[in-house]
Amino acid sequence: MTVSGAFSGAFAGRRVLVTGDTGFKGAWLAFWLTRLGAEVHGLSLAPEGEPNLFSQLGLGNLIRSRRADLRSFDAVEAALRETRPEAVFHLAAQPLVRLSYDAPVETFAVNVMGTAHVAEASRRAGSVRALVSVTTDKVYRDPEAPRPRTEEDPLGGHDPYSSSKAAAEIAAASFRLSYSMPLATARAGNVIGGGDWAKDRILPDCIRAFAASAPAVVRNPASVRPWQHVLEPLSGYLCLGAALLGGKAGAAEAWNFGPSEDSVPVSAVADAAAAAWGDGASWKASGTPGPHEAAALRLDSAKARKRLGWAPVWDHRRAISESISWYKASMSSVFDARALTAAQIELYRADAAAAGAAWA
Ligand SMILES: NC(=O)c1ccc[n+]([C@@H]2O[C@H](COP(=O)([O-])OP(=O)(O)OC[C@H]3O[C@@H](n4cnc5c(N)ncnc54)[C@H](O)[C@@H]3O)[C@@H](O)[C@H]2O)c1
Repeated sequence: MTVSGAFSGAFAGRRVLVTGDTGFKGAWLAFWLTRLGAEVHGLSLAPEGEPNLFSQLGLGNLIRSRRADLRSFDAVEAALRETRPEAVFHLAAQPLVRLSYDAPVETFAVNVMGTAHVAEASRRAGSVRALVSVTTDKVYRDPEAPRPRTEEDPLGGHDPYSSSKAAAEIAAASFRLSYSMPLATARAGNVIGGGDWAKDRILPDCIRAFAASAPAVVRNPASVRPWQHVLEPLSGYLCLGAALLGGKAGAAEAWNFGPSEDSVPVSAVADAAAAAWGDGASWKASGTPGPHEAAALRLDSAKARKRLGWAPVWDHRRAISESISWYKASMSSVFDARALTAAQIELYRADAAAAGAAWA
C-alpha cells in the first residue's frame, strides 16, 4: 500500500483513534489514514446492515477496531487508556434527523454525553495532542438565514439531532476552555459518496431504487443543502488534526468546512444522480414531507480557507458523478472496494494539489 506525503506527513507512524469507523464517514477516514501511514484504531458499534462500507473495505483487517458504546464512560475510557492515541477523530453519533424525532433521548445520550465521554477520556489518557470532534452544519440557531453561517453565529437547533450536536459543541468548548485541551470542532455540510448505505439519505435511497429499476421516492425535493463529496470534509478534518498535532496557534476552535458553490436543491441531486446512473433511472416526490427539517442551510468556510489553507475541490456535480461511479462499480461481482476507494482518494488529492492546496 502506498503512503502519501499529504498533510506534511503529520499522520505517518502516529496512533490515531477514529470513533465511528464502522460508519460511512468514519470508514472513509480510517481508510484514508491507513494510506497516510497511521496506526489506526476504531471505536464504534458493529457495522449496520448489508452492504456496509466497513465490510466492503475489509477494514477489520486493516485497522484495530473495537466495539464499545459511547454511552458507557468506562468503555470509552478503557479504549483511550489502552490505545493511547496521539490524535482522535470523533465521528461516532446518532446522525439522522428523522430518527432523532423517534429516539430523542438516545440521540442526546449518544451525541452529547458521548462527546463528553470522548473528551474526558482523551483528557485522562494524557497522550492526545489533537481531538477533532465532528458536528454538523445543523448546529446553527438560524440555519435558514439568507447569509451563510459563520463559526461566530449562535448555536441552536430545532430537531433533537441538530440541538444535540449544538449541545455537543458547547460541551466540547467547555472541555477546551476548562482544561486547555487541543480540541477543535468541525461543522460540515450534507455529505455524499460511495459506500453510504444509510436509510433516509438521498443518494443511498436513489441507488437502492435505481438498482431495482424503480423510481426513487424523494422527500422535500425543494430543500437546498450544502452538498459535498465525503472527501471534502475529511480533508478539512485532517488539516485540522495536522494543525493541532503541529501546535498551530488558534487551531483549537470551531471550524466550518462547506462547499464552494451555493447550496443546491435535493431535486437537482436526484436529477444528476438519475442522469449519471442512466438506464432510465428516475425519481418522484414523496408528497409527504415528514417532520420539520431545515429548508435551507448554507455554511461560510472563509475561516478554514484563510487560516488552515483548506478549500473545497469538487463541486456537487463531480461529487455526484464520483459517487455514482463507486456505487455502480459496487454492483459488479468483481468489485474491489479498496482499489476504487484508494483511487478516488488519490484522484481527489491530485485535483486538490492542482488547485494549489498546500495539504495535498
Ligand atoms: N453524513 C452526513 O451527511 C453528515 C453531515 C454532517 C455531519 N455528519 C456527522 O458525521 C459523523 C459521521 O456520520 P456518518 O454519516 O458517517 O454516520 P453513520 O451512521 O454512517 O455512522 C455512525 C457511526 O457511529 C457509531 N455509533 C453510533 N452510535 C454509537 C454508540 N452509541 N456508541 C459507539 N458508536 C456509535 C456507529 O457504530 C457508526 O460507526 C456524525 O457525527 C454525523 O453527525 C454527517
